[in-house]
Amino acid sequence: MPTVSWRVSDPESAARERICQLRGEIEEHNRRYYEDATPTIEDREYDALYRELADLEQRFPGFSSPDSPTQRVGGAPLKAFSQVTHRAPMLSLDNTYSEQEVVEFYRRLERLLPNEKIPVVIEPKVDGVAVSLLYENGKLRYAATRGDGTTGDNITRNIRTIRSVPAQLKGTAPKLLEVRGEVFMDKAGFTKLNAAREEAGLPVFMNPRNAAAGSLKQLDSAITAQRPLGVVVYGTGAIKGAELEQHSKLFRWFKTLGFSAAEKWWVAESVEDTLHAIHELDRVRHAFAYQTDGAVVKVDLFAQRDRLGFTAKSPRWAIAYKYEAERVETRLLDILIQVGRTGVLTPVAALEPVTVSGSRVARATLHNEEEVHRKDIRIGDVVLLEKAGEVIPAVVAVRTDLRTGVEREFRMPKNCPECSSVVQKDAGQVAVRCVNAQCPAQLRRRLEHFASRGAMDIEGLGEAMVGQLVSHGLLHHVSDVYSLDAEKLVTLERVGEKSIKNLLDAIERSKTQPLWRLIFGLGILHVGVSASRALSRHFGSMDALTESSLEELQQIADVGDVVGRSIHAFFQEPANRELLKRLRSAGLRMIDDSPRAFSNQTSPFVGSTWVITGTLSKPRDEIAEAIISRGGKVSGSVSKKTSYVLAGQDAGSKLEKARKLGVRVADEARFREMLG
Ligand code: IVH
Repeated sequence: MPTVSWRVSDPESAARERICQLRGEIEEHNRRYYEDATPTIEDREYDALYRELADLEQRFPGFSSPDSPTQRVGGAPLKAFSQVTHRAPMLSLDNTYSEQEVVEFYRRLERLLPNEKIPVVIEPKVDGVAVSLLYENGKLRYAATRGDGTTGDNITRNIRTIRSVPAQLKGTAPKLLEVRGEVFMDKAGFTKLNAAREEAGLPVFMNPRNAAAGSLKQLDSAITAQRPLGVVVYGTGAIKGAELEQHSKLFRWFKTLGFSAAEKWWVAESVEDTLHAIHELDRVRHAFAYQTDGAVVKVDLFAQRDRLGFTAKSPRWAIAYKYEAERVETRLLDILIQVGRTGVLTPVAALEPVTVSGSRVARATLHNEEEVHRKDIRIGDVVLLEKAGEVIPAVVAVRTDLRTGVEREFRMPKNCPECSSVVQKDAGQVAVRCVNAQCPAQLRRRLEHFASRGAMDIEGLGEAMVGQLVSHGLLHHVSDVYSLDAEKLVTLERVGEKSIKNLLDAIERSKTQPLWRLIFGLGILHVGVSASRALSRHFGSMDALTESSLEELQQIADVGDVVGRSIHAFFQEPANRELLKRLRSAGLRMIDDSPRAFSNQTSPFVGSTWVITGTLSKPRDEIAEAIISRGGKVSGSVSKKTSYVLAGQDAGSKLEKARKLGVRVADEARFREMLG
């Protein structure tokens, strides 16, 4: 019986599909968090997704990939700042909300360091933005964000405006010292800043962390200087000219050098004392000037840390325990409907404004109709609001005991609130969708996504500008972006000549963006950055992608069944084909001409199309990667256009078809020869 080695059994294919889906979702949340500073899920939810992915990758190591978000730290650096390579990488910590996992963490330490005393330090986890400060001979040379962990933004000018960061260290400073800490906006300053912004008609910041992130992103450091920022330092990176032995001695040392370090910390030598310190910290942390979202537990002795080492992303000698979020009560005044990029209608709670974990909240997403009914949320209810990780507010429960009988049940509208088209519910899905491709709300969202930093990166084409352009009838399709000109743009209110020029320049620049950004920018359901990169790499051109078969799509490592179906459906849609036609004639880049794909023009693989079949000695993904990295393509079905069929043992119908069509057949030995 012909077997195909890479066909996976059921639990495996389910795992692969879920892995792809999780990677897409996590990429998207990373982008929102790190690049836009506007996260849309709570830390806790993010952590749950991340964990699920990490678990699956551990259980199915065949599907692990260096591109997976579990293998990378944080987001890509911003463009506007120059880049700094950290002397020592900036890693992050494993997070947990469970005390049991703290117990397991300590037990693991005991297993790895048997018969030793293992003192650990418990200190506040400051909820801000990570920073690395480099001092040479006591002088601040530069300050950088974490970026991707290896390279970050050079934010020295902004950091110099923060009084708690010494420009010159006091006392005897080492020759070289990389100090790691967290930039925060203090809680009182945050409240004042938001009140002032509200009065000035400016958008308010979601929470102190976003405010700190936003302040550090300012290209004009005069603005940063006006923001109430501080830095708490908690560790070192590279160091020369000083020998450090234990973490608990750092707090005093940092202070003698002129830094601010945590005012409260504990040393414990047992799991019980560790938990006790975590509880103590929870009791006192609200009095701190800065927001905290947890406790960090770190092995105190550096010699022990060295022996414990690191995993790919985080040290084995530390863990972050996150506290449960603060809950507050408020009234649900109404449920509004928001229309998303793919037409999904999302119910949003309009709340009586209330302060949760340090920020004012008036809106909270309710996700979908089922969620509203599952939680039995009714308009007029008193609801419990939470901001896990102090980011996105969520309605977690209802005070049904306070009902008076006037509360109203929520029903999803039958028509889109933006364009009045009848809405549809896909079979087996919770989402309700407006299927009118011309719906102005969808168009706005699609344009916002297309122009966003992670996609085509068109600066100046944000939410407000898109809103104006659509309401003025200047944009009906995404491709209309490339027909904008100065004449059309002058008709907009409050848009000066300079902004018009900048916008048109940014639009022009976007035409040369790499293919994967365009693929991502199309906003295909479930297609995140890593799938877009994989598609660009695999097909090498928009043409090949557009014409790909469902089977071929589903066999790509970062794609899988659900995502494959969504991509296939997207390219079957005549309106989308029309869009691509217009984008092509606007001059956008439609091929992946990255040097990796076509570096060796003399290779027999360049421009060739391969079909892989039968049982081979290596996983199919690995073989496909070898072909693609040499400029070839891999297809799922044999046709006259196929250059080679790589036939392993027990190859069946595909080999037969190749013979019939006269397509060249290579066995594994021949293939290896060709690889050289
Ligand atoms: S230690 C090698 N200590 O939380 C690990 N981090 O994911 C170095 N943070 O990236 C981190 N307070 O930005 C450490 N007392 C503290 C911290 C802290 C806040 C941040 C930091 C880190 C993230 C953990």
